[in-house]
Amino acid sequence: MIASTHNLRCTECGNSIAPETVNANFRCPLCNGLYEVCYAWSSKPAGSIPADPAGNLPNPSALRWLWQERRSSTLAVDQSGVWRFRDLLPILKNPDHAVTLREGNTPLYDLPRCGKAVGLDWLLAKHQGMNPTGSFKDTGMTTALSVAAERGFEWVACASTGNTSAAMAAYAARAGLRSIVFIPEGKIAWGKLSQSMDYGALTLQLKTDFDGCVDILNQLVKRFPIYLLNSVNPYRLEGQKTPAFEMVEQMDWQVPEHIIVPGGNLANSAALGKGFIEMHQLGLIPHTPKISIIQAEGANPLYRWFIDSNRIMRPVTADTRATAIRIGNPASWRKAANVIDELGGWCEQVSEQEIALAKAEIGAEGIGCEPASAVTYAGLKKLVALGKVTREQRTVLILTGHTLKDSQYTIDYHRNELLTAAEYAQIPSAQQAQHAALRKPPMVLDANPDTVLRALEAHMHLNNTPLPA
Ligand code: F0G
Repeated sequence: MIASTHNLRCTECGNSIAPETVNANFRCPLCNGLYEVCYAWSSKPAGSIPADPAGNLPNPSALRWLWQERRSSTLAVDQSGVWRFRDLLPILKNPDHAVTLREGNTPLYDLPRCGKAVGLDWLLAKHQGMNPTGSFKDTGMTTALSVAAERGFEWVACASTGNTSAAMAAYAARAGLRSIVFIPEGKIAWGKLSQSMDYGALTLQLKTDFDGCVDILNQLVKRFPIYLLNSVNPYRLEGQKTPAFEMVEQMDWQVPEHIIVPGGNLANSAALGKGFIEMHQLGLIPHTPKISIIQAEGANPLYRWFIDSNRIMRPVTADTRATAIRIGNPASWRKAANVIDELGGWCEQVSEQEIALAKAEIGAEGIGCEPASAVTYAGLKKLVALGKVTREQRTVLILTGHTLKDSQYTIDYHRNELLTAAEYAQIPSAQQAQHAALRKPPMVLDANPDTVLRALEAHMHLNNTPLPA
């Protein structure tokens, strides 16, 4: 039955295979390319639903109604913000096999102050950090791990900068599978490391970077019957495309003009692009949005590709405090590049100083996110300055991780211990003032009401707030 619902198509050479025949490393044996999941509707002209849809797809209005109805169901697969859209991801033999923590269903917030500061009428944030393990990875893990469980694997593994491993460990624990996590030693945030231990994974901290962890894992899967859950696994992207569905549903089926995504291993931008393209194919939306990708300056291979007139991808040695995207050799770069080209987006890079400021500004809206997510707002400022995003365009930032994932970063920032003096000196004076206004370091005081009052008066004086009468 599975073979009739989808096949896997190599995104490099176009060769299609039956899903059960895929290699353990999810690479095409002909060209080493990555696969994508293809359905009956995948390559139809926009708006024309196939005459013989393998999954007996209802029409767009019926689908919208069905997805809305499932919100009030008590079934786990209906409560999941991923499996609620299962009609567009028929990858399991039986949807009851779905391993779910009720992922998805994340809020779409407005960011009025950030929007105003950058000169936009409409700025929204789809907060994927509000998923069960605190990052967007849950949306892809529920799908790929469910496939692993249904196919009878006992072991699953991933290399990770911390969020994939947290998600994999949790979903593996739910399914009763055993999980192995490969993480770069000393280069992931403590919150994420603690999660994989909490959820019972075998956690291996390798003395290398993320790209080195990927190399080791790729060798291991050839020698041990283990199911690979890095984002080279195309079933991860099936789940990660669903926030695109949820977002337009939350906007009453209006399509935003611009989506801005952080870029690390570059699967998420590719997955969201696939989601929008499929919705367009099926006539659920009248057009697609632009998707732009933002990288940290110290981990910017896609940005370099983007500005290179020969468009050659050259891996870099990555370094950024936004450890989630500290990736120099992104596996899914070609898929992401296709999304930029096909949907007409842009690519930008942002500095450590710009990331820190953007994160503090988002935090000051009461939202909060991890540093890798804040690159979206830092990048938006540049896109507006370049005229790539204009005042009236509805723009959505994809906030990929929860602020508590990397609380040390936030504490260091507010204590003014994040940036070096040399880095701080490079910040233009107007932005230095912004940093100073945003920083809220904790005060340590004697437990005495007079001392507290004096501190309060000093604080109000500093902020020009009149004292209450
Ligand atoms: N934001 C966060 C919070 C992430 O954890 C990641 C990737 C990204 C953005 C970039 O997404 O790789 O699809 O371009 N984290 C991976 C991990 C690599 O192992 O957790 P991408």
